[in-house]
Amino acid sequence: NKAVLAYSGGLDTSIILKWLQDTYDCEVVTFTADLGQGDEVEDARSKAIAGGVESIYIEDLREEFVRDYVFPMFRANAIYEGEYLLGTSIARPLISKRMIEIANAEGADAVSHGATGKGNDQVRFEFGFYALKPDVKVIAPWREWDLVSREDMLNFAEKHDIPVERKREGSKSPYSMDANLLHISYEGYDLEDPWCEPSEEMWRWSVSPESAPDSPEYIELTYQAGDIIAINGEAMTPAQVLTELNRLGGKHGIGRIDIVENRFVGMKSRGCYETPGGTIMLKAHRAIESLTLDREAAHLKDELMPRYAKMVYNGFWFAPERVMLQAAIDASQVNVNGDVRLKLYKGNVDVVGRRSEQSMFDERLCTFEDDEGAYDQKDAGGFIKLNALRLRMAKLAGK
Ligand code: ARG
Ligand code: SIN
Repeated sequence: NKAVLAYSGGLDTSIILKWLQDTYDCEVVTFTADLGQGDEVEDARSKAIAGGVESIYIEDLREEFVRDYVFPMFRANAIYEGEYLLGTSIARPLISKRMIEIANAEGADAVSHGATGKGNDQVRFEFGFYALKPDVKVIAPWREWDLVSREDMLNFAEKHDIPVERKREGSKSPYSMDANLLHISYEGYDLEDPWCEPSEEMWRWSVSPESAPDSPEYIELTYQAGDIIAINGEAMTPAQVLTELNRLGGKHGIGRIDIVENRFVGMKSRGCYETPGGTIMLKAHRAIESLTLDREAAHLKDELMPRYAKMVYNGFWFAPERVMLQAAIDASQVNVNGDVRLKLYKGNVDVVGRRSEQSMFDERLCTFEDDEGAYDQKDAGGFIKLNALRLRMAKLAGK
């Protein structure tokens, strides 16, 4: 028997690697993905070799991640509980999908991950596994082993000659973090008190709004079918777009949030997130939709959006209801083309211009000047009268 392990090369997954080999007496295949987290993924190779691994997969999935997961989600304007842009949630289905493909290619019957038994990530990974390979065996070490403290982990590492790296000064952080091209998250440590403000040193991707540049920066985003295809007139791939927007947003202190959220397993959890590029994309996408979407189509999207966001948060990416909603959302985007002009300044993203060849905005209709017969104001009288009919009947009946 063989298991595919989601492997970062860090201490926790190195311990899991050894624990799997011992506990299940199985061959372990490691999978390490570059999703834009900023770590050198090749470092995982020598560690996997040292751990006795023969099949090692290290892959750059940045383009697929943004093109097939992040961009489709942003077409929906998805946001969980009014705040969270789903940076971790949206990465899990892609990791699950690649792990199952690798399991099939390797003839492996099991998959394993390093998410704890308390969180959302275990649910997201495993929903992905079961949806794509219904008979797969899932091994979640955190729910099985008896290593309950950091000390137990370190003892295990020492006993099995797993190197515990002295982290370089400046790179060490007491937080539980997860990063990819869409966001970086921080949980645990002093954040476990929801009243405690995080220190400035915690944040890694953005400057604080207070220390952002004193002059604003204008940028122009070009949309095609709801996706950004160019920045300031320069064509870019999806991953290039997000990388550049992260740079711009980070420079201007955009996209920090500090929230308490409801996890799917039932507990509340406090987390801080930096989503510079995503924060810009959400604002800009709504602006291009404001010109190009029909009112009722837009409102229906807005009603469905919280449902869609919850599906992504709870890990139902491969579920029929998410696929079905995505088809409707994608169909709404055919005319979402054009340009949005933004002003970035000290933590803010302001929309200052939008234009589209498919714009439904008609200044002849809404002008306060002479509309030259484009709109007959007399029509509004009957419109109001008929719509008010039931209000009048209600008042009369209640007398
Ligand atoms: N609470 C966020 C979510 O559920 C972030 C989770 C971060 N995951 C992690 N393994 N550090 O999406
Ligand atoms: C974890 O528990 O592994 C991280 C947090 C989460 O999944 O919500």
